Amino acid sequence: MMHNWRMKLAPSIYTADFGRLAEQIGDAERAGVDVIHLDVMDGNFVPNITFGPMVCAAVARSTSLPCEAHLMINGPERYFHDYKDAGVSRIIVHVETCPHLYSTIQQLRQLGLEVGITLNPLTPIEAIKPALSLVDLVLIMSVEPGYGGQKYIPLSRQRIATVRGWLDEIDSPAELEVDGGVNLSTICEVRDAGASIVVVGSAVFNDKYSVADSVRMLQTSLQECQTEDELSV
Ligand code: DX5
Ligand code: ZN
Repeated sequence: MMHNWRMKLAPSIYTADFGRLAEQIGDAERAGVDVIHLDVMDGNFVPNITFGPMVCAAVARSTSLPCEAHLMINGPERYFHDYKDAGVSRIIVHVETCPHLYSTIQQLRQLGLEVGITLNPLTPIEAIKPALSLVDLVLIMSVEPGYGGQKYIPLSRQRIATVRGWLDEIDSPAELEVDGGVNLSTICEVRDAGASIVVVGSAVFNDKYSVADSVRMLQTSLQECQTEDELSV
């Protein structure tokens, strides 16, 4: 499959060193990433607990990049105002937590926020189809939400490609983002399936390489998979 877009990188701060958070975000920003991805977990919808609006506000103050909050929490509507006040520009909700998804989307719109929807790896993909014309972003989870550093689930490829087909059918400009296990070995597959943004956690914030080197390696891989596309034309 041939794609002409430049794929965007959205580092998740989940695996960052929280004692040096602003510094690490600055390193990612200078290396040319596009969005900061904030993984909010409540110990209820997912087992793990991360952080809430206060940390998101501190992150948003520390960067000029847009910030998106991925809310892995039950009853997310209760906190939309708080995340808006924290300075995030996009909120991503799980369809599993939003039985009244149309109203949820309207609430986000009324707050002037960009709207993202997502779903767990084995939630039937049809669950998001009726909402595609209403959203700015669809996020395909390629791991079970809850932890960083997990392995990419191979059946995600088909799900990304299916949603790419649906978005193209309705000429939607919505972003198609993929989250979980995206690294140097999986980034080309994800791009080739049709993603326009990838979330990268441990592939950017890890003990092995600096943030700048990690971002550079991902950018280089992306250039190489673009070259493969061109060769296959
Ligand atoms: C998973 C989170 C992801 C995750 C990404 O629950 O939504 O954003 O932290 O981390 P990696 O890239 O390490 O899988
Ligand atoms: Zn996420």
